[in-house]
Amino acid sequence: MRKSRERSPWNRRYPTFWLTLAALAVTVLTTVVVTQDRQTLLRWSVFLFTDPQQGSTLFRGKGCVRCHSVNGVGGKVGPDLAGAGGHPSDLAVLVAEMWNHAPNMWERMRADHISYPTLTYEETAYLVAYLYMASHMDGPGNAQRGKWLFTSKGCIRCHAVTNKNGEQRSLWNALGAANTPMAWTKAMWEGAPAMEGAMRKAGLAWPMLDGSDLNDLFAFVRQSSDHYVTEAQQFPGRPERGWRVFQAKSCITCHELEPGSAGSSASLPPEKWLAPTFSQVGELMWNHAPEMQRAMRNQGIAYPTLPDEEMTDLIAFVYSLRYFDPPGSPVVGSSVFNWRGCSLCHGEGAQGTSIAPALRGRGANYNSISLATALWTHGQKMYYLTQKSGLDWPTLQKSDIGNLLAFLNSPIAQPHPQEQK
Ligand code: HEC
Ligand code: HEC
Ligand code: HEC
Ligand code: HEC
Repeated sequence: MRKSRERSPWNRRYPTFWLTLAALAVTVLTTVVVTQDRQTLLRWSVFLFTDPQQGSTLFRGKGCVRCHSVNGVGGKVGPDLAGAGGHPSDLAVLVAEMWNHAPNMWERMRADHISYPTLTYEETAYLVAYLYMASHMDGPGNAQRGKWLFTSKGCIRCHAVTNKNGEQRSLWNALGAANTPMAWTKAMWEGAPAMEGAMRKAGLAWPMLDGSDLNDLFAFVRQSSDHYVTEAQQFPGRPERGWRVFQAKSCITCHELEPGSAGSSASLPPEKWLAPTFSQVGELMWNHAPEMQRAMRNQGIAYPTLPDEEMTDLIAFVYSLRYFDPPGSPVVGSSVFNWRGCSLCHGEGAQGTSIAPALRGRGANYNSISLATALWTHGQKMYYLTQKSGLDWPTLQKSDIGNLLAFLNSPIAQPHPQEQK
């Protein structure tokens, strides 16, 4: 039993997933995949996901912030890159959107005399990881609704909120430096055992939270607190640390991370965590806290505290499990390449023409990140060429990305390779 939990969750049921993953991780992983299990999960999580914190630094450093906001903070020239509406919640959406909107962005840069940012593969990976994560971050919340919840969920029976002078169980102490929804989630998680006892004594049912409840409660408590601090703009979580927390804090003893696993009642396949925002993952933990506490007691496991950034890291880790290249078919990709007009310049088989370079058969291993990097590096030239040739800028659908990548990475079948060149 223990043994199977420690198997890599991916290698059995998600062959396509592995394929796309391998494309991303190129050679580094291919050997590890077959042999190493938990270690692998860690390694690809690190490798793939890179560091969203660096991405948030680059977002400012590269000047994106002059035109774009993320969750409302930043420039207003371009669209908010995480805000409501256009949640670029997966890699394919993000890359397709960047691709489609690039020409207007370049025009704007030209008009504003802003120098065009250059991005290396690594920098693109950081930026994209940041934007992906930011799309799951919580917004400011609705304090008005939070106030109503504070009463209707019964919090007010034990916690004073209005009196700031030494009132018992006032929540400011809990908040302290807790200026983010995640720090608040951590306080709720850590307070859960004491609250469970108190609620049982008072004959109260465990208050279940869903939707934006947790975040709205936070907005209300924060608003009425002396400790109000504006939210840190720096992206807080580090997925690779979260993976370590997941192991060190015993989560892994009860929870499998296997996709689609229904066998174990405590399995946590990534799709189960598929909440739109971080605080909604926190709600899942809160809702199940009494049950988990019981299970832990039965198994002699101490209820884990999650000091410092551990809650945030943990949740960042969970989202990193869903961060991978979309799967695709090279056959469909070949059609997409023609439909979208890429073949007009790059040739029908993407073998290259006198106008544009070969994209296939160069040993290049394309993934979402390298496609985005190519857009930043070569896109402007491509764009001016489409203009000169009277062509429309080829736009991409979300579903195109996986297929295009599969096509670009497929070998060129050629009976006489020497004739090709
Ligand atoms: C000079 C202003 C400007 C700068 C600087 C800029 N952008 Fe943009 N960006 C725009 C505009 C304007 C659009 C919208 C274009 C459109 O509507 O077609 C856009 C669109 C986008 C989109 C598509 C968003 C969507 O929801 O459709 C992404 C992603 C993006 N930019 C990322 C970046 C990144 C990353 C950087 C920094 C490396 C950056 N931008 C720098 C102006 C800018
Ligand atoms: C039956 C009483 C009771 C109810 C109802 C209750 N709590 Fe608590 N809460 C407690 C107790 C007891 C603690 C333990 C903390 C302490 O005071 O030492 C606690 C702790 C907390 C903490 C952590 C405090 C800290 O210092 O770390 C938070 C945050 C919190 N509660 C929020 C809530 C919210 C939000 C609700 C409503 C959904 C709620 N509580 C409902 C009794 C209650
Ligand atoms: C002793 C066993 C045990 C440990 C340790 C444990 N859990 Fe749980 N967890 C459970 C049980 C049992 C459930 C309820 C499962 C259900 O209802 O499907 C649960 C439910 C959850 C849920 C809600 C899942 C859902 O489907 O809604 C989340 C999220 C979660 N746990 C996260 C964690 C995290 C993070 C840790 C480590 C800090 C952890 N758990 C540690 C036993 C445990
Ligand atoms: C109007 C002609 C034209 C069209 C249409 C076109 N491209 Fe390009 N593409 C080019 C040119 C020219 C370059 C080389 C630009 C440079 O050297 O900076 C290029 C470069 C690239 C690169 C970078 C190659 C490298 O060296 O890494 C990629 C990837 C790419 N294109 C993909 C596409 C895709 C996908 C489409 C369709 C959605 C497309 N292109 C449509 C002309 C075009």
